[in-house]
Amino acid sequence: MCGIVGYTGKRPVVDILLDGLEQLEYRGYDSSGVALKCSESIKVYKAEGKLKNLREELAPHAYELTKSTSGIGHIRWATHGSPTVVNAHPHTCNCGNLVIVHNGIIENYKELRAELEAKGCKFKSQTDTETVAHLVASIYGEVRNLTKAVQLATKKLEGAYALCIMHNDEPGVIVATKRNAPLIIGVGENEFYIASDVPAFIKHTKKAIYLNDNQVATVTPDALKLEDENGMIISPKVEQLPWEPVALSKMGYKHFMLKEIHEQPDVIRNILVGKLHTSDTPIVLDEVKLTKQTLKDLNRIQIIACGTSLHAAMVGKYIIEGFCGIPVDVEASSEYIYRKTVTDAHTLVIGVSQSGETADTLTAIKQSKSRGSHILIITNRPDSAMAREADSLVPVSAGIEVSVAATKSYVAQLTSFYLLALYMAEVKGTMEQAELTALKAEMLILPQKIEQILAHKDEIQRCARKYSNTRDFIYIARGINYPTALEGALKLKEISYINATGYPAGELKHGPIAMLDETMPVLSILMKGSVYEKLLSNSEEAKARNARMVALTNSTDPKLDDLFDFIIRVPEVNELLSPIIAVIPLQLIAYYIAEFLGKDVDQPRNLAKSVTVE
Ligand code: M6R
Repeated sequence: MCGIVGYTGKRPVVDILLDGLEQLEYRGYDSSGVALKCSESIKVYKAEGKLKNLREELAPHAYELTKSTSGIGHIRWATHGSPTVVNAHPHTCNCGNLVIVHNGIIENYKELRAELEAKGCKFKSQTDTETVAHLVASIYGEVRNLTKAVQLATKKLEGAYALCIMHNDEPGVIVATKRNAPLIIGVGENEFYIASDVPAFIKHTKKAIYLNDNQVATVTPDALKLEDENGMIISPKVEQLPWEPVALSKMGYKHFMLKEIHEQPDVIRNILVGKLHTSDTPIVLDEVKLTKQTLKDLNRIQIIACGTSLHAAMVGKYIIEGFCGIPVDVEASSEYIYRKTVTDAHTLVIGVSQSGETADTLTAIKQSKSRGSHILIITNRPDSAMAREADSLVPVSAGIEVSVAATKSYVAQLTSFYLLALYMAEVKGTMEQAELTALKAEMLILPQKIEQILAHKDEIQRCARKYSNTRDFIYIARGINYPTALEGALKLKEISYINATGYPAGELKHGPIAMLDETMPVLSILMKGSVYEKLLSNSEEAKARNARMVALTNSTDPKLDDLFDFIIRVPEVNELLSPIIAVIPLQLIAYYIAEFLGKDVDQPRNLAKSVTVE
């Protein structure tokens, strides 16, 4: 959340910062700003809303700013204070000589603010960040050295931060530091870049230094000095990034989300390459570094994740318990980290995250690592902070996902969970060979089945139109598709702002059924298998309360025609693999409803793709 870009070198800085911020828009898009070192002073420009507003704000000054070759920029997802120009970053000290951009939350900002106000600092914004600007500036007044001032100031900060700071009296210097928030330095020829994420500078350099917590980097066009918080010199580890600059294109689709939904068959094919050759050969998961013995000795698994990744984790629990007989707990990371969790060397802890940098999940991982658990990370970003904590790293290889609403990364996480569960079952010998072979054979043809669904998307679009005027939407399912109901509801909420809720269908009559009447759509995820008949009865119960019934089903049972007002059919699939198939129409329903309502599908209000604050 929030993106930071910095540059110091010999080239005009404005476009470098703006292009970098554009690559980081997935981290927030409610306001943005830049600070540029000019001949006499540091000039700050800010704008509310999307980055294009900042571009417009800067356009009249384009010529005069070409001489500026160092600066910092920020794209914001508001935590403290509404998304206004005053609260947008960069923030400054009272005289305007010191400027700062920040990602994270300073938890003790109120106490610090009171102290600084007592010393005469005048605050303009409601942000926690402005406190850091005044704090560093007041220390700078005593030590007259920006690096030293930052080192002393950060000792007083509680919480999480990535910071880039400039001072007018130190032209060309940017000081960068971080704690529990990402910050990377791109190393060029007589120039340095600083950013929250690699895409911000990958088109300029592939050499990078990943800052560790509490390290302080001081960059000028010609030099980089890395120190710890006490000023001890550290030798920087420069890494060669295995990245190619990607021109993000919608490839003719109206939105990235629709493009990403269509990429899902290929995402699955890519993941299976090298891991699942044929239905008769064992799964190859070189990424799992647990020995056969440790795998056999495991007495418990905990899976921690947030949002859509949490729904993938819930499917993971179902199949790992079913295939391997190991007890699995699933928990939202934000709950896991604030209680006494029981975890030890016999517990495998699995963290699931598209971005690999979700703050709550990262904290949870670090906690369980310190208690001796083996950490297995399933992520789409093998270069992320979470991946760096992993003992075993399972990259999901979904490619860059631009749309804030996760689609292809979810299907990729599910595919990885199936591979992992089947692999563990093979190692432990907990599944019948015939069942293993059948599941593997069906996994290999899942991409074609998804293609069949996508080929009939017009029908799903028709369904979406029919229900787009609703204020509420209920999704029901049982068993392995209960997480699918949650995910379908989350997708709809996120991008259409319709109040959608997923329920285990058996729970309907314990309360939610009170909400049903002729205005309420109820979508039943009715996959053939162990709970089909039970769910059918639950659907009857909803129908009896006049709800507007929709079925998502792979059944051709004619009874359904009387029960449901609209039926979306999907191909036959083994119940155990059905979450991968069932979620596709739900992603499309959410997409088409949001598109029909004219919502900002790829960048829904109030959200960011990467949630780096707890
Ligand atoms: O990067 P992560 O998978 O850790 O992110 C977790 C959630 O923030 C994320 O899944 C969020 O719920 C998405 N917007 C869902 O579409």
